[in-house]
Amino acid sequence: MKIDGRPHRTIWRDGDGRVAIIDQTRLPHRFETVVLEDVAAAAHAIAAMLVRGAPLIGATAAYGMALAMRDDPSDAALAAARARLMATRPTAVNLRWALDDMTQRLAALAPDRRAPAAFARAAAVCDEDVAINTAIGEHGLALVRQAPEARGDTVNILTHCNAGWLATVDMGTATAPIYLAHDAGIPVHVWVDETRPRNQGAALTAWELGRHGVPHTVIVDNAGGHLMQHGRVDLCFVGTDRTTATGDVCNKIGTYLKALAAHDNGVPFYVCLPSPTIDWSLRDGADIPIEERAGEEVSHVTGLTEDGELARVLLPPQASPVANPAFDVTPARLVSGLITERGIAPATAEGLAALFPEHARAA
Ligand code: MRU
Repeated sequence: MKIDGRPHRTIWRDGDGRVAIIDQTRLPHRFETVVLEDVAAAAHAIAAMLVRGAPLIGATAAYGMALAMRDDPSDAALAAARARLMATRPTAVNLRWALDDMTQRLAALAPDRRAPAAFARAAAVCDEDVAINTAIGEHGLALVRQAPEARGDTVNILTHCNAGWLATVDMGTATAPIYLAHDAGIPVHVWVDETRPRNQGAALTAWELGRHGVPHTVIVDNAGGHLMQHGRVDLCFVGTDRTTATGDVCNKIGTYLKALAAHDNGVPFYVCLPSPTIDWSLRDGADIPIEERAGEEVSHVTGLTEDGELARVLLPPQASPVANPAFDVTPARLVSGLITERGIAPATAEGLAALFPEHARAA
């Protein structure tokens, strides 16, 4: 992505080698960056959602491990950093994937070699994410090109939450085909689900699509079914936080309802799935841990006042209890296909095993 004409990632090392991120809790109204000083700051950034989105959570955790090794490369510090970062968010499996990857590599090294190796591996995790997302974009672009509407009309794509540039190191997963299609001159328009309670669609997806010049419209979460009934959605592209070896897809709360509506209306429903988001140890989506977040995310909303100030207001009666399950599981039968970096698989155990035989064998 470009910010003010300059290429930008969501996590990077600045001129002094410090690890920096965009504070996504301030978007879309403020663009602020934050330096992660140590592993505690990395853990806080993930838990408080300064960074979010499964791939970016993994990349931040990798840098968190590197910061921990810089400060104390002992075995005890390695184990403590892993435990601390692992406790931040339960659903996105990229977190465990990155921490296992880092721990395995670093534990094999003498302590004095761990810090430079950790920073190098964290940078590689970021580069791999960008390569994966670019490949997902190419495979998804073929689907956009095949849509009958691509012959002269606008292709209307619905997406949920933010599986965009901001959820990854760059490109996004669900947005990668959209950016490539737009750049290739295919007229695309994106229906952006607001995505209550945290509004990642309205705040983040709308912001980044706008920055890239992609036509889009923000809709309330309840509008998607209606638009599908009226032939106004040609394709759905969503991301995922964890997909089982059998193709059950866990993603932001509300994804399941969109998949049901898409199924009922014959709208193709694709999940953009980087391989680090596949949990090869699970065969049933019901076994995926679903994060329950603070009720305040439901009871309060933050926005810009007419005076240009950020304000937080209460919606329901103060005394009303609220619940906040942050993710849901879309059964594989509702998924038209899984767009991975190695190609598009049917949402089945066989489909994923055919593309990733080495993982399927090991599981
Ligand atoms: O709670 P969040 O904002 O971290 O949830 C993000 C999502 O659900 C994304 O769709 C998912 O992580 C895929 S990101 C490429």
